[in-house]
Amino acid sequence: MGKFLPDNIVTNEDLSKLIDTSDEWITERTGIKERRHIVKGSGDSPATMGNKAALIALERANRAPEDIDMILFATLSPDYYFPGSGVLVQKLLGIPACPAMDIRMQCSGFIYGLSTADQFIKTGMYKNVLVIGAENHSGGLDFTTRGRGVSVIFGDGAGAAVLTREEDPNKGILSSHLYSEGQHAEELSLIGPSTMRWVPEIIAENDPTDESYYPYMNGQTVFKHAVVRFSEVINEGLQKNNWAASDIDMFVPHQANLRISQFIQKKFQLRDDQVYNNIMRYGNTTAASIPIALTEAWEEGKIKEGDKVVLAAFGSGFTWGSTLMHW
Ligand code: ACO
Repeated sequence: MGKFLPDNIVTNEDLSKLIDTSDEWITERTGIKERRHIVKGSGDSPATMGNKAALIALERANRAPEDIDMILFATLSPDYYFPGSGVLVQKLLGIPACPAMDIRMQCSGFIYGLSTADQFIKTGMYKNVLVIGAENHSGGLDFTTRGRGVSVIFGDGAGAAVLTREEDPNKGILSSHLYSEGQHAEELSLIGPSTMRWVPEIIAENDPTDESYYPYMNGQTVFKHAVVRFSEVINEGLQKNNWAASDIDMFVPHQANLRISQFIQKKFQLRDDQVYNNIMRYGNTTAASIPIALTEAWEEGKIKEGDKVVLAAFGSGFTWGSTLMHW
């Protein structure tokens, strides 16, 4: 595992100088105290941050870039409209030819990536798969008071994992559980830069009140669905593996909102030492949040070999999923 976060720390106080918000409002509703933002012109992007996280993961896994058979890149904020950021990482890593696929599953992207890697490895097709989650949110948020319901929540960063074949069926990923429900697609979405908005017309309109370029979130609807789906998909994984909630050594939820994590912790009666949260420091980094949190939990010695680890995510789509593993 590896992670990369930009140095630039943006506190709630910093944001309250730009927009009508407060540390109290943000902390009470989300648990976030600060997040990282890319500095414009620094050269950092989802691909470059993903590459930095990947280089750390490769070194720790004792693998060279040429050992990688496939790259899976989860993001909702790709460097370019097309091609995907996966091929940009492939270029940066100097891998001449391998599949490099972007995953457009937003907050659930890393869970989808792990599951996809797991399938390719278990079928015997590939041996080493690099899975990256990376986001540049700050480049696309509305930092005026109009956008405050969304812009205070998200942060930038990247995390990466190198997955490899393990002959012992009781080690590594045991099961993944994936879902989507497109009927709620617009409840958490960014419609603007798309083929559904005729680009020449948008340019001709040059309308400063056009909000379609910024993410839209129906926060309360997202909250209600998130707590239900998180619970369902964790339960499904526990049942599949005959685990009780008390068996979990470490639960790493997608860092959506501290209140959602606390709700799930309470529901499954998990102790504080069974749950890893870092949203206070990084905000919600969407596809990057699980690999960053998992990397940190492991770096801090909170996940050890043989531990029972549960990951779960919910996000735009709506999409959700869980991964259960023996570390
Ligand atoms: N600072 C100060 N006031 C704000 C801010 C802000 N940053 N944002 C909104 N407000 C105001 C609103 O304008 C509104 O004012 P009004 O009552 O005068 O109209 C008031 O605060 C309440 O706004 P709501 O949107 O109703 O606030 P809510 O209590 O629902 O909290 C939040 C918003 C935190 C987003 C909440 O809905 C929530 O937790 N939702 C879950 C969704 C979530 O966590 N998403 C994370 C990203 S998606 C994902 O990862 C799954």
